[in-house]
Amino acid sequence: MRKMKDVVFFDIDDGSPRVLQVVIEKGKVPKNLTFGSSVETKGILNLNKNKQIELLAENVEVIGNCDLDDEYPFLPKKSYSDEYLRQYLHFRSRTHKFGSLLRIRNSICFAIHKYFIENNFIQIHTPVLTSNDCEGAGEVFCVAPYGFNRETNSSEGSSFFGDTAYLTVSGQLHLEVMARSMGNVYSFGPTFRAENSKSRLHLSEFYMVEAEMAFTYTLEEIMKFCENLIRSVTETVLNVCGEDISKFKDTNVVNSESMKFTSVPFTVITYQEAAKILDKNKRQLHSEFHFNNSLSKEHELFLVKYNGNMPMFIIEWPKCVKPFYMKSLPENNEKVMGFDLLSTNVGEICGGSLREDDIDKLQDSLLELKLQNKLHWYLQLRKYGNIPTGGFGIGFERYIQTLLGIPNIKDTIPFPRWPHSCKL
Ligand code: 4AD
Ligand code: MG
Repeated sequence: MRKMKDVVFFDIDDGSPRVLQVVIEKGKVPKNLTFGSSVETKGILNLNKNKQIELLAENVEVIGNCDLDDEYPFLPKKSYSDEYLRQYLHFRSRTHKFGSLLRIRNSICFAIHKYFIENNFIQIHTPVLTSNDCEGAGEVFCVAPYGFNRETNSSEGSSFFGDTAYLTVSGQLHLEVMARSMGNVYSFGPTFRAENSKSRLHLSEFYMVEAEMAFTYTLEEIMKFCENLIRSVTETVLNVCGEDISKFKDTNVVNSESMKFTSVPFTVITYQEAAKILDKNKRQLHSEFHFNNSLSKEHELFLVKYNGNMPMFIIEWPKCVKPFYMKSLPENNEKVMGFDLLSTNVGEICGGSLREDDIDKLQDSLLELKLQNKLHWYLQLRKYGNIPTGGFGIGFERYIQTLLGIPNIKDTIPFPRWPHSCKL
C-alpha cells in the first residue's frame, strides 16, 4: 500500500501472472486494510500515464483481514530466500515467484498430456499401492500390513492386504501389462522413493511421466520419442508461459537452458565412451569412477558439462547396474539396451529401456532376485502372446528444475517431502 495525499495505491494479486494496481480515495479505505489481507474491490480499469492497467476503485471491502503479528512470515516490500519460504509451505504460493512456478508446472502438465494424446497414447491410471518394487533398489515405502485400529488408536491388528504392500516407485510394470492389450500407453502420477537423501535433487514423493511403447524393436525409437516429447513440451511452455518464465530472476539462464532442449538433437554416447571421458579427466573429479558401476552425480554433471551443457543419452549400460527388466544386447549378455538421459543442472532426468522379452533370460534374472513367485504374472506376459515393448520415465520435477534453472528440487513442487520432512 502506498498512501498519497488524497488517494491510496495498493496492489492486488488474484493468482494470475500480473499484479493489479488499485487506486482509491483515501476516505474509502477500510481501517483494517493491511498488507496480506483478502479483499473484494470494484471499479473501472484505466490505462495510466505509464501505460499500465490500473483499477480506479469505487469501493474496497476486506474479506479476511491479516494480523501482521510475529507469526505472519512476510513483511511488505521484502523478498525472501527459497529456504525461508520452504518453512512456510502454507503461505509459499502467495509469493509471485512460486505462483509463477505453479502456473508453469500446470502448463507443462497440460502440454505433456496433449503430446501423448496427439500421438495416440492412452493414459493409464497405474496404482499407488502395489506389491512390487519395480526398480528392485529396496527404496520402497512399506505400507504397514496392518489395518489401523481406531479403538486402540494403534496399527496392530489383522493384516490388511494379506501381503506386503508398498507405495509405487514406478508404474512401469503395470504399463507393460496395458501395452500388451492397448498399444501405446502412458501414465503421469506420483511415485515414491525412500532414498535417504537430502540432496537438492531428490524427493521422497515426485511425479513421473512414463511411457510404454508397443511393438518397439529398437532403443532408438524410444529415445527419439522421448526427445521429441521433451522438445515439443519445452517449445509449448516457452510460448505459453513467457511472462511467468520471465519472473525467474536470471531469464538468460532460463532461455539458454531451455534452448538446449529445443535447438539440437540430443547427443548419444555409450557407457564405455562415458567411462573413457571420466577416466581421462579423473584429476578433475572428487569421486572415483569404477567401471561396471553406476555414475555418481558428480560424474553425470561432469559429462553434461563436457558435452557443452547439452542433453545427452548414455546407452549400453552394464547389466549389473540396471534393473532386471532391461533387455540385454543380442551380442553381449552383460550389457543392456537401456538409457539414461542427462541434462544440465541436474544430471539424470530420465531413464528408459527395451524390456527383456526372452523368457529364459527373464526367468534367470527373477530367480536370482528370488522374485520368481512374486513376479510370476510378469513372466506370463512373455509366455502368452508377447510383443516387444520399451519405454521410459521422466522425473517431472527434475525436468522443471533443469528447464527453469532451479537449484533445489524442493522448490518445484507445492508440498515437497524429503527425509524427516513431511509437513502439512
Ligand atoms: O530411472 P528411474 O528409476 O526409472 C524408472 O523408474 C523406470 N521404471 C521408468 C520407466 O522406464 N518407465 O526413474 C525415472 C526418473 C529418473 O531419471 C529421475 O529423473 C526421476 O525419475 N527420479 C527422481 N526424481 C526426484 N526424486 C527422486 N528421488 C527420484 N528418483 C528418480
Ligand atoms: Mg535411473
